[in-house]
This record gives sequence, structure tokens and C-alpha cells, in this order.
Amino acid sequence: MKLSEYSTNKTEEIKELFTKVFSDSEGESEGLLIGKLVHQLMTGTSDQDLYGFTAVENEKILGSIFFSKLTFESGVNAFLLSPVAVDTKYQRKGVGQKLIDFGLNQLKEDGVGLVFTYGDIKFYSKVGFSIIAEEVVKAPFTLSYPEGWLGQSLVSDEVESIVGDSSCVEAFSDPKLW
Ligand SMILES: CC(C)(COP(=O)(O)OP(=O)(O)OC[C@H]1O[C@@H](n2cnc3c(N)ncnc32)[C@H](O)[C@@H]1OP(=O)(O)O)[C@@H](O)C(=O)NCCC(=O)NCCS
Repeated sequence: MKLSEYSTNKTEEIKELFTKVFSDSEGESEGLLIGKLVHQLMTGTSDQDLYGFTAVENEKILGSIFFSKLTFESGVNAFLLSPVAVDTKYQRKGVGQKLIDFGLNQLKEDGVGLVFTYGDIKFYSKVGFSIIAEEVVKAPFTLSYPEGWLGQSLVSDEVESIVGDSSCVEAFSDPKLW
């Protein structure tokens, strides 16, 4: 399996992967929503604000992950991990964890200090994330599931509190996603 930056001529295949995986796990309407979100991320985000990676085997994309810029008034260098998907037939074989580790290493090499995500602590705690209180680090929108606001520092042991508001890239600027 080869992990690498996604190639822009695979945009449609990546959109299809996310649509299929999220349709399988959360139903068709969620699949369509996430497929559209990923397409918007790839086509509507400036290069310096987006990282996307794929796991490929025999020319087939088995999994993919995106990190997009999270902007804080204080200027800290932070990204949001979302979304990540592994082909339904290849789940629970470690592909998801490898994609996340690979992505976090690339971001760290580029000097990114903090990564946040919004999801299931049971899964994300295995790759270094802990629950972050909204008072400690503000999410861009009010969270419908505050226990899912997670973060990790790539440069120290813990996430220190950040003063001020945060904002996300256009593709995530929809309160319904939060
Ligand atoms: C979540 C996802 C990316 C994980 O990828 P994966 O390749 O299946 O994960 P791994 O094999 O690396 O899993 C590592 C561990 O995470 C946990 N895990 C995996 N999928 C999980 C899930 N859906 N819920 C809770 N924990 C999960 C398991 O504990 C697993 O360890 P175990 O097999 O030893 O019990 C993948 O299952 C997926 O695409 N799911 C549907 C889409 C989704 O929910 N994406 C995440 C939100 S953006």
C-alpha cells in the first residue's frame, strides 16, 4: 500500500470513495453530503490551506484523508482533520490509522503545531487525540456534540488554551456540519 499526497486528477474517484463509504456507514443522504463536501474542499480551497492524502494499492484508492486550515486570531498554525474514509471492504485492517499517522507526520514536517478534529474519541484516541473543552479552544461553530471536539499538539504533550475565535475554510463554513 502506498501513502502519498492526493493527485488532482483523482478528484472524482476520491469524491466517489467518500460518497460510497459514508453511504454504507451513515446512509445515502450523509454519503452525498460528505461526497459534496470533499469535492468542495478539493476544488474550492487554496493549496496552502489544504492537505489531502490517499492510500493506494494496485492502482485502487483504499482510503483518503483531508486536513484543512483552522485559523485562530492568535495566529497559531492549526489544521482540522476531516474527513477520513477507508473503503468499506478494507476497514479494520489498520489503513485508517496509517493514513492519519502519515498525514500528521507530513503536517509536522511543515511546521504545523496543532491538529483538531470532530468525531468519535474511541477511534481518534488511538492516534493521539484527546477531548478539548470548547472554553479551552473554540470551534468555528457551536458544536451539537461537544464531546467530539478533539485535538492534539504535534510539538508538545498537551494542547494549551487558545485565546480568541477560530474560523475554518469555506467548505466547512456551514453550521449544520458542526
Ligand atoms: C473510521 C475509519 C476511517 C477507520 O479506518 P479503519 O481502517 O477501519 O481503521 P483501523 O483499522 O486503522 O482502526 C483502528 C481502530 O479504530 C477503531 N475503529 C475503527 N473503526 C471504528 C469505528 N467505525 N468506530 C469506532 N472505532 C473504530 C477500532 O478500535 C480499531 O481497532 P481494532 O480493530 O483493533 O478494534 C473507517 O472505519 C471509515 O471509513 N469509517 C466510515 C467513515 C467514518 O466514520 N469516518 C470517520 C469520521 S470523518
